[in-house]
Amino acid sequence: MVLVTGASRGIGRAIALAFAGEGARVVLAARSAERLAQVENEVRDLGAEALSVQTDVTSHDAVAALVEASVNRFGRIDVLVNNAGIGKVGGIESSAFADDVRQTLQASLFGMITVTQHVLPILRQQGSGAIVNMSSVMGRKAFARFGSYAIVMHSVSAFSDSLRQELAGTDIGVSVIHPALTATDLLREATEAEMPAPFRHMTPLSPDDVAHAVIAAVRRGKRRVVLPRTANMLLLGEAVSPRVGDTIAAALTRRPIAKALGMSRGKTYHETISNRPEPATRSR
Ligand SMILES: NC(=O)c1ccc[n+]([C@@H]2O[C@H](COP(=O)([O-])OP(=O)(O)OC[C@H]3O[C@@H](n4cnc5c(N)ncnc54)[C@H](OP(=O)(O)O)[C@@H]3O)[C@@H](O)[C@H]2O)c1
Repeated sequence: MVLVTGASRGIGRAIALAFAGEGARVVLAARSAERLAQVENEVRDLGAEALSVQTDVTSHDAVAALVEASVNRFGRIDVLVNNAGIGKVGGIESSAFADDVRQTLQASLFGMITVTQHVLPILRQQGSGAIVNMSSVMGRKAFARFGSYAIVMHSVSAFSDSLRQELAGTDIGVSVIHPALTATDLLREATEAEMPAPFRHMTPLSPDDVAHAVIAAVRRGKRRVVLPRTANMLLLGEAVSPRVGDTIAAALTRRPIAKALGMSRGKTYHETISNRPEPATRSR
């Protein structure tokens, strides 16, 4: 059984459907009951079993209830995908910055910690399992105007690194996924002008690209996956020195360079999401 948080839309929905397509039973968790019910139906249409549990991952009680309901229904948890999260765009001098960091930490990091702490005893008891944590390219290299998000994504990377080493010698794997910009509603509230310069002409990944990478990571026991692979050049540059990392980040603001690196090859993020309906209001 695969438990996916943030499964009501975007990358989490794609991950749940991809696992269901492989015949897995899935538990879907998020705050929006209505959207979860839609995804549950989509999973059932694929012939797989699904349970959706309305959950705010920032609530210990809700997470405890989620894990209890999952085990009651399916008896075990094979894969936990810690995907729920939010993201804000804005400069460090903005008065909202500290609050953006707090809110993002709360949903994307503390939520992940709480869910992991509730699921780990079950994986240990089973003696096996896999945990997949969703970070971002921004979890290895920050960009201007993405400081709050990058702080939290770096913390997700560090959490995953510690966890993997604490679980060494067990049959419980830990993978961390670092996707580049992906076509979901995560940054819908930011206008094109508010986006960091390299992101204005970047072609986003599809949620399905990320979902397939997650399945491959679990199958092959991969510790870290960066998507697309060309983003590794940026990370390699950053590892050499921040000057090289910054130079590559700045070079990505030029469309021909982004194009040559395969980062700008079609519609931009805003062009991709503008045709989609606004996400439904959450029903709590
Ligand atoms: N889009 C990108 O460019 C990108 C790139 C790299 C990594 N990521 C990461 O991928 C993950 C998924 O994001 P996405 O792009 O698919 O964004 P999205 O479409 O906005 O989906 C976010 C999901 O998280 C859920 N969520 C948010 N806060 C929650 C909470 N407190 N409790 C439970 N569920 C919560 C949302 O559901 P409800 O609102 O119904 O609760 C939704 O299902 C995030 O962790 C994000 O940081 C995204």
